[in-house]
Amino acid sequence: MTKTVAVIGGTGNEGPGLALRWAKSGQYHVIIGSRQQEKAERVAAELNARLGRDLIRGMVNPNAAAAADLAVLTVPYSAHLPTLESIQAGLTGKILIDVTVPLQPPKVSYVKIPPGGSATAEAQALLGNEVRVVAAFQNVGAAHLDDPDRPIDCDVLVCGDDKEAKAEAIALAVAAGMRGLDAGPLQNAVVVEGLTAMLIGINIRYKVKGSGIRITGLK
Ligand SMILES: NC(=O)c1ccc[n+]([C@@H]2O[C@H](COP(=O)([O-])OP(=O)(O)OC[C@H]3O[C@@H](n4cnc5c(N)ncnc54)[C@H](OP(=O)(O)O)[C@@H]3O)[C@@H](O)[C@H]2O)c1
Repeated sequence: MTKTVAVIGGTGNEGPGLALRWAKSGQYHVIIGSRQQEKAERVAAELNARLGRDLIRGMVNPNAAAAADLAVLTVPYSAHLPTLESIQAGLTGKILIDVTVPLQPPKVSYVKIPPGGSATAEAQALLGNEVRVVAAFQNVGAAHLDDPDRPIDCDVLVCGDDKEAKAEAIALAVAAGMRGLDAGPLQNAVVVEGLTAMLIGINIRYKVKGSGIRITGLK
């Protein structure tokens, strides 16, 4: 059975490229979530025009989460908790893949550890045991995702406490054209989230758009 993935906050920089790649893979039904129905439909229509097929639907975030098997959260950290509260009812028994990085503008190249240990840990604490939360995709820059035919030179590190949830996130990474790696428990999400701030600093200092990470030494 083809699974449905909802990209919550999928109207910004990071979400559309992921949605485009998952739809293009043919392995998922894809929903773009937004606070506004019209905006979700507009972005879905723009992506469908690029695909040349109507593969992506647009919905308000709570409906997108309720209609999906898997939800992927791509909102700024300042919107993290309110967005989670808005979709919580639709997530019961499901998997949430959290892409959120707890950046603190204007110093977005400084690692910021939030009160709950990581954004992912805060999501898990809010949602409770009924939702399996994993961290993934934080180190993949939006600029790379935008062209679905372009290979991405970046691994996707996946952290979480549930093996099946991590396997789903790894499958999503593969469907989007990347290698997904099990990077350990949810407690490790702080490292993956922190790496993004470091990569932003590297982008600035080395004048590149999207530095990434690779794990070496694997067969
Ligand atoms: N951009 C990247 O290259 C990149 C790379 C790796 C990780 N990330 C992380 O991924 C997450 C999303 O990044 P992004 O660049 O896609 O963010 P973004 O474009 O600034 O925002 C994504 C969406 O979040 C919703 N949103 C924005 N402000 C909100 C608010 N105050 N309350 C509720 N919803 C709000 C908006 O959707 P609606 O208006 O449609 O509701 C917006 O389109 C961030 O945590 C970021 O750190 C980004």
